Amino acid sequence: MSTVVIVGAGQAGYQVAASLRDKGYPGRVVLVGNEPGIPYQRPPLSKAYLTGALADTRLALRPMTFYAKHDIELVAGHAVGIDRECHRLRLADGRELEYGHLVLATGTRNRELSVPGAQLDGVLGLRTKADADRIRRRLGTARDIVVIGGGFIGLEFAASAAKLGLTVTVVEVADRVMRRAVSPVVSQHYEALHERHGNRVVRGVPVAGLHGTQHVTAVELADGTVLLAGVVVVGIGVVPNTELAAEAGLAVDNGVVVDTHMSTSDPDISAIGDCAAYPSRHTGRHVRLESVQNAVDHARCLAARLTGTAEPYTSLPWFWSEQFDARLQIAGISDGYDNAVVRGDPAEGAFSVFCFRGERLVAVESVNRVPDHMAARRLLEAGRSLRPADVVDSFDLRSYAAAS
Ligand code: NAI
Repeated sequence: MSTVVIVGAGQAGYQVAASLRDKGYPGRVVLVGNEPGIPYQRPPLSKAYLTGALADTRLALRPMTFYAKHDIELVAGHAVGIDRECHRLRLADGRELEYGHLVLATGTRNRELSVPGAQLDGVLGLRTKADADRIRRRLGTARDIVVIGGGFIGLEFAASAAKLGLTVTVVEVADRVMRRAVSPVVSQHYEALHERHGNRVVRGVPVAGLHGTQHVTAVELADGTVLLAGVVVVGIGVVPNTELAAEAGLAVDNGVVVDTHMSTSDPDISAIGDCAAYPSRHTGRHVRLESVQNAVDHARCLAARLTGTAEPYTSLPWFWSEQFDARLQIAGISDGYDNAVVRGDPAEGAFSVFCFRGERLVAVESVNRVPDHMAARRLLEAGRSLRPADVVDSFDLRSYAAAS
């Protein structure tokens, strides 16, 4: 049996290694990662890990003994080149690893802010454990915290900071927060939630630059507003790590392009997780998603193929975010929806937004409405819809979905 080499020891990379062993793969499994330590969970970094509620030791996806027990070789290294002809992966320190099958699970990196002062001390991103540790150290003495980017990272960080008794100003360039991911009703709900907890949200104004000599002292907006800032957390989105694939001549288009089996144009190389652009059954086009669900399900699909039970990838995308006491759960992808119908009451902090394209349900965003989310997942997985007129509290959604 040939060696499977996995590049990237994040959620997707870890999962494909674990699933290969779970399915009895007898060959070598080598997991190459460029972060210190063993694979860990990222979701707590902006939440429980940041506030100190989750200890360092509980961040690991599995204990070290797991890898020895399952004969998964962990290699610390940074992959810099693929020789497709010789089936070799080159690492930055000159080492080479021979593969039978290569899995690219290289994920994404933070998009960088490109304004004057962006390199000042005290301007921090949040993606890795090292980033979270750096932010935690600063929070102890922090005054005047500004977050640039009102997306998932920015808002989850702002909610965690508020839990620690700090207040944050969030600067979002778009006209509403989390615009990329949710409908206006949900954006408004979260903005109000942050303001109720003492955070401030400034929308629709770009950042002009950051001030300070060595350390950041202020953020200046394009309308001339100056916000004092001792710490600036930047969460303005991510870019996929596709350089390895592109340099090896594989197709790249906002992600490493794969087919429904997660295979690149080279049958001996697959790509999964945040870095992979795959044809979605649910949207009818290639998508690249950034979520734990996507990483885990891609990995399982690939492990099944590599152990002889290939099935096309069809999983329904779902996402979640926790801020204060509001649990946001999203089922499906709302791209191109033209009708959003609310069930429940935003004023009471529990509601769902059903997004339709024409008569077809494409996504459901739920805030503190777990049963709606579970019913939505059942319906969307089964490719079933409901009529917009049925999106009312008196409609027995659960039984309707259970009949799927
Ligand atoms: P994001 O795409 O969710 O949000 C970025 C936000 O920054 C957007 O609202 C955008 O309009 C705004 N923005 C862009 N340029 C800006 C600028 N120059 N000034 C001000 N605002 C600007 O990405 P985010 O929050 O950085 O998250 C990074 C990654 O982590 C994503 O993959 C995200 O899905 C993932 N993540 C997911 C979570 C979840 O699912 N709960 C939680 C935290 C992170």
